[in-house]
Amino acid sequence: MLEKIKELTENINQYQIDSKEQLEQFRLEYISKKGKISELFENFKEISGEQKKLIGQELNKLKQFAQEKFEAFSTELSKKEVLIKEDIDYTLPPPPAMLGSRHPLTVVREKIIYVFERMGFNLSDGPEIEDDWHNFTALNFPHNHPAREMQDTFFIEKNPDITLRTHTSSVQIRVMENSTPPIRTLSPGRVYRNEAISARAHCVFHQIEGLYVDKSVSFADLKNTLYVFAKEMFGKDTKIRLRPSYFPFTEPSAEMDVSCLICKGKGCNVCKYSGWVEIGGAGMVDPNVLENCNINSEQYTGYAFGMGIERITMLIYGIKDLRLFTENDVRFLRQFKAIE
Ligand code: PHE
Repeated sequence: MLEKIKELTENINQYQIDSKEQLEQFRLEYISKKGKISELFENFKEISGEQKKLIGQELNKLKQFAQEKFEAFSTELSKKEVLIKEDIDYTLPPPPAMLGSRHPLTVVREKIIYVFERMGFNLSDGPEIEDDWHNFTALNFPHNHPAREMQDTFFIEKNPDITLRTHTSSVQIRVMENSTPPIRTLSPGRVYRNEAISARAHCVFHQIEGLYVDKSVSFADLKNTLYVFAKEMFGKDTKIRLRPSYFPFTEPSAEMDVSCLICKGKGCNVCKYSGWVEIGGAGMVDPNVLENCNINSEQYTGYAFGMGIERITMLIYGIKDLRLFTENDVRFLRQFKAIE
């Protein structure tokens, strides 16, 4: 009897199945009431004496082993079947991959650059950690002048000569120091000001500034450039308005408004019912600034302008909270496409 049990265990161990038919065959042979194991149980009834206990145990082990093997075969087989059923056509193109989208600030920055590049501006770049000379002094901010406070500067504690740049006008100084007119350049970049973060203000934001220095550049050139920009950027019916203002590095200086994109000048809560929204500052480069960069102010004149990229992006898309730009919420970020 023990011999027989051993033999059947061996057989089951070596059993292989590939089909439902073979699985059924296995069931009939080992599991069913008419199978080999049931037969052994029948014979077992006749056994008596010392061996009964041992044989009983072995027989039960065999029964359990057969049952486990049967279940293992069934699951293996159903897995195989699923694969066969899936019936994949490997020649079909794959489903489209989820592509990321561009950040709205990138979309708007690129559009602004595109517009000015077509007017002959090139791009320039500079460090975000600046020295006092490039961020202030060369730009005609006298020492201890209140205009420095206007900019809410972050200073490096150990060295007050080093700041996080408060505007990208610092890049324009670098360009003027290192080249000779004609200069027509655009400097986009990240700037820092010590402001509490709210829906309308942030301590890190982006500017894009433009500079044109050549012989006989006039305020009329500046006005026309901004006018063309506004039409290209916001639509051909857009109007611009320049209001007198003050910056240490430009004289005369102006704040630049465009007619409200939302209400087209009729008055709404975005433009606070004035019909106009401010997008930046502009002016004729102060002769002192040109001289600071070794450009002869008797020979050359220039204009400069600067605008906030966040501001313009909020206007174009009707975004009401500046903090959305830095929260990286994909539900927000997925909504933006390139501007035509
Ligand atoms: N640099 C100014 C600012 O950050 C903007 C500006 C640039 C104004 C160029 C006039 C000319 O506020």
